Amino acid sequence: MIKAIKGTKDILPSDMPLWHFLEENVRNTMREFNYSEIRTPVFEETRLFARSIGESTDIVGKEMYTFTDKSENSVTLRPEMTASVVRAYIENSLDRLQPLHKLFYIAPMFRQERPQAGRLRQFHQFGAEALGSSSPLLDAEMIILGYNIIKSMGLTDLAVKINSLGIPSSRENYKNILKDYLSPKLKELSEESQKRFETNILRIFDSKNEKDAEIMNDAPVLLDHLDDESLESFEQVKTVLDASGIPYQIDPKLVRGLDYYTNTTFEILSGSVGSQSALCGGGRYDLLAEQLGGKASPGVGFAAGMERILLACQNENSIPDQKPEIDVYIANFDKSKISEAYNFANKLRGNGFSVESDYLSRSIKAQLREANKNNARFVVFYGGEELAENKIQLKNMTDGEQANISLDSMDSIIEKIRG
Ligand code: HAM
Repeated sequence: MIKAIKGTKDILPSDMPLWHFLEENVRNTMREFNYSEIRTPVFEETRLFARSIGESTDIVGKEMYTFTDKSENSVTLRPEMTASVVRAYIENSLDRLQPLHKLFYIAPMFRQERPQAGRLRQFHQFGAEALGSSSPLLDAEMIILGYNIIKSMGLTDLAVKINSLGIPSSRENYKNILKDYLSPKLKELSEESQKRFETNILRIFDSKNEKDAEIMNDAPVLLDHLDDESLESFEQVKTVLDASGIPYQIDPKLVRGLDYYTNTTFEILSGSVGSQSALCGGGRYDLLAEQLGGKASPGVGFAAGMERILLACQNENSIPDQKPEIDVYIANFDKSKISEAYNFANKLRGNGFSVESDYLSRSIKAQLREANKNNARFVVFYGGEELAENKIQLKNMTDGEQANISLDSMDSIIEKIRG
């Protein structure tokens, strides 16, 4: 028996109403804020991700699906979209079309992490990236977008955390301060954190180890060592957020797992999904376009994990069961008229109705059961005396009303179904 690869999941028809609901909410909110959709290839040159996300990050170091293709090129299934979007922005000279681009996506991502609830190896993100402006309005807008969409899924147990990572010079300065603080305690840190001390010292704040957390509790924080410009920009983000009414906390220990961030970073967390609690994360990346060989173009964005949001919805029971329905079920009780009944179904489909008919030569009782299962609004009885008179019987399944209508009056049939 061949099974789906560990950490991947089939999304079955019964899961779809919820997925579609989320996707519609994403598209509606993105339309309200005038973001345009972008789709980029699922795989890219490996060095795109190595250069943007950072060699010393967990994603690049341990989690990427990287392989050499038949032309000896190293390619990688995208672990996230920001790098790809910035690559597409540069490659297609989008900046020449207009100074500001507001883009969104809904797409699968791939990371070889240890699978657990809310953590998959193929998962889906929706996200947005705004390129071409360093306005703090956009930093706040990303938080508002993410929060509004997550809220539209009925979730309540949420926390919005924001921080600023400043510009590289203030960060480098701060890293030395953190090094000075941690050096005498280095041996007390977990092995992983000792490694991070050398490679990516800020990530020690993310350690789940108790002793590490205790040590980091008293550590100096970057927010106290920011340059004036970063501080000013952070203040403006807070002012917009305050006016938006979104409840948020400043978390000076919020460091993100990707190296491209500058200034604002944020996460939206859920209290109802267990340890993988980040539903959404993002921030500003003003230097990324340049790092990837493009013109300097400030950028800011976020991405949210769709499986995690849906898991939170399930756990909070936030979305009532959605019953898909069809407009019409054609119950055919004259075996000699199968193809006529089928053509009649197609006529209705041609008028925009969703229609189902019998393909399994079922009894009329079984067909009616099927109509109920499909939540058909109407049933057409096709056959018998009525058909002999060139009529069908149309039953409204909501109020039980029945009418015999001539097949020559297609307009009246359509009008009745339209209601
Ligand atoms: P990220 O924090 O790596 O950021 O991922 C964003 C969200 O994707 C997470 O908060 C989580 O909900 C979801 N996610 C990540 N890994 C997994 C996984 N293995 N299984 C299920 N869900 C997962 C980024 O990807 C950045 N590109 C965000 C960004 C956009 N920053 C600026 N622009």
